[in-house]
Amino acid sequence: MDTMRSASPDGDATQSQAVLPQMLSHAAFISRDTAATVEFFTKVLGMEFVAAVLNDQIPSTGEVVPYFHSFFRMADGSTIAYFEAPDLPPIPDPPHPAYDTFRHFAMQVSTVGEVDAWHARLVAHDVEVLGPVDHGIMYSIYFHDPDGNRLEIATPTDDRWNDDAPEARTALAEWNEMKAKAKNTGTSLSSELAALSRRRHGDATEPVL
Ligand SMILES: [Fe+2]
Repeated sequence: MDTMRSASPDGDATQSQAVLPQMLSHAAFISRDTAATVEFFTKVLGMEFVAAVLNDQIPSTGEVVPYFHSFFRMADGSTIAYFEAPDLPPIPDPPHPAYDTFRHFAMQVSTVGEVDAWHARLVAHDVEVLGPVDHGIMYSIYFHDPDGNRLEIATPTDDRWNDDAPEARTALAEWNEMKAKAKNTGTSLSSELAALSRRRHGDATEPVL
């Protein structure tokens, strides 16, 4: 993909000079025990613990919450980050477990063989691993960090996986139409989605989660 591509998702000329974000800086999660998080990311995932911030106040909002902020670096310099704030109450469980499935952080490797090698490494460290799952466009394994956040190691198996904007727009239009139909007719969203999936894929391609 052309990393210097301009951001103009709707073909809006006024947006054509905007420069796309270049990489993942960090995505942040909650840790209940930074020492355990450091142990997991450095020993199991082999990532370096590259930065830490301690503060008694959140700079962006002014909220008085003592915290420890940690960063772990991937090969391209992007990071996964954690906040530990012992004074805050525990996070309640989501109203449906699927939220914890949908909400996840995926790290990319180069080949299917590397995904399989990660599977073996994680199992050797007594980490429970789901997969591999062949999504047709992505080959993935899933596991959890010490706080139960879902992590994924994946490799694309189709170069178009992140470069098919027309198809994405078409899919969104179909999705919106399907939701409206289900709402207006009182039919099940699941049955409408199954019909849509058959029309779109016509096969048993696994959805990418
Ligand atoms: Fe994913």
